[in-house]
Amino acid sequence: MSFLGIDLGTSSVKIILINEKGDLLGEESRGYSVDYPKINWAEQNPEDWWKATKDCIKNLMEKGCCKKDTVKAIGFSGQMHGLVALDENDQVLHPAILWCDQRTQEECHEITNYFGQEKLTQYTGNKALTGFTAPKILWLKKHKPKLYEKIAHILLPKDYIRLKLTGEYATDVSDASGMLLLDVKKRNWSKEMLEFLQMKESVLPKLYESYEITGYLTEGIKNILGLKGEIAVVGGAGDQAAGAIGTGTVKEGIASVTLGTSGVVFASHNEYRVDKENRLHAFCHANGKYHSMGVMLSAASCLKWWVEEIHKGVAFEELLTEAENSPIGSKGLIFLPYLMGERTPYADPNAKGVFIGLTMSHSRGDMTRAILEGVAFGLRDSFQILKELKIPVEDIRAIGGGAQSNLWMDILTNVFDQKISTLYTDQGGALGAAILASVGNGTFDTVENACSKLIHVKKTYVPNKEKVYAYIQYYKMYHQLYDVLKASFDQLAHVQKSLYFI
Ligand code: XUL
Repeated sequence: MSFLGIDLGTSSVKIILINEKGDLLGEESRGYSVDYPKINWAEQNPEDWWKATKDCIKNLMEKGCCKKDTVKAIGFSGQMHGLVALDENDQVLHPAILWCDQRTQEECHEITNYFGQEKLTQYTGNKALTGFTAPKILWLKKHKPKLYEKIAHILLPKDYIRLKLTGEYATDVSDASGMLLLDVKKRNWSKEMLEFLQMKESVLPKLYESYEITGYLTEGIKNILGLKGEIAVVGGAGDQAAGAIGTGTVKEGIASVTLGTSGVVFASHNEYRVDKENRLHAFCHANGKYHSMGVMLSAASCLKWWVEEIHKGVAFEELLTEAENSPIGSKGLIFLPYLMGERTPYADPNAKGVFIGLTMSHSRGDMTRAILEGVAFGLRDSFQILKELKIPVEDIRAIGGGAQSNLWMDILTNVFDQKISTLYTDQGGALGAAILASVGNGTFDTVENACSKLIHVKKTYVPNKEKVYAYIQYYKMYHQLYDVLKASFDQLAHVQKSLYFI
């Protein structure tokens, strides 16, 4: 018996195949591009996701990783919040507007002013943030009214792939939580939000728990992909909830940190809980419970930008070795990682990336190290809120590309002043997705039991007193800088907007 986990990310789709013991039978990945048609806009073509996904599954099957008829269920982990709008023939009406797109500041104000923050929190558990789906729907309604009239179905990114596989319009409650259309506490669509948007519920996908079966692969698709027999497709989850399942973050006291394209601090709860000031997102978890999380928009993507855009042609390892030779605090250099604006804790699309403290004595290695440290400080901002809310955290597990770097993990551990572990199975969201599939298929009775059987800690990083002390001083500085620079960020955005056509 085997299970496919499809992780539909922002830069690529990654697909893994595991058996019921959690052994990795095969993996495939395909990249695709993001379009940035205007400053702070980010779009993708859903057809690219589908082509890449099809290719990966076909290849996995052709490689003979398992027998065609042993795949029993498929689960998803999906980049969250993206808007996929389809007409009545399931044709994509507009490029998908992604989670990191920041065009909807006005729409967010409009939603918040209409309800007032208290009511909005009561109806959705959250505040209106530029990345979330409902403000994007409102943007389309205002800016593309003709196109808007043709919308018959709204889906999240991974649910577009589900539609292609099964013909069903469905989603899961963890991913739906990030639409600002879900009553997170009750786990159903918010009638107040639907009324506000004047939208019929039938436009939205049917809601499921992440481990529930939403449909089965159609015969046509099985032929194309090289699969056989009855194959169930479970709800799956938003990438952060799926990633948390892949780290075993399914109990109170366990938190996870993601050093991926985005950076996330995630804590699991048994009951619904919402931060009064909505500093953290209050979402449904993929195990039938709830979670809180803080999200920074650019984490490992800051390093990707530094390596691939600024230092094209220089090996990644070379830059990291240089960073290792730079001292703690990067010789007094601080980096603010707001390359796509910032979500937690500032919810500010105008925030920008900044190096502060540059001198003639700084080297490239110092700048690389400052980037790693700046991202760790940004994550600390979310972790700080968890601490202030007295959310118990005894065990932190790290995932994402950045978790593979000893240097970055050491920095993170000392910036958090907390033990942080990495795991043997660092398949992140794809593993979470495959685990959800195995629960849906009945191989495990609960998500928690599946996690305790399949997930094991590999290495635990322990804080060092002197390093912690040094980072406390630098973090204090870092934390003040956003407030100091806010007016300049706003001014810069204003000037840029007014001179856009020059
Ligand atoms: C979560 C979030 C990101 C995206 C892309 O709220 O915005 O995790 O899902 O990874």
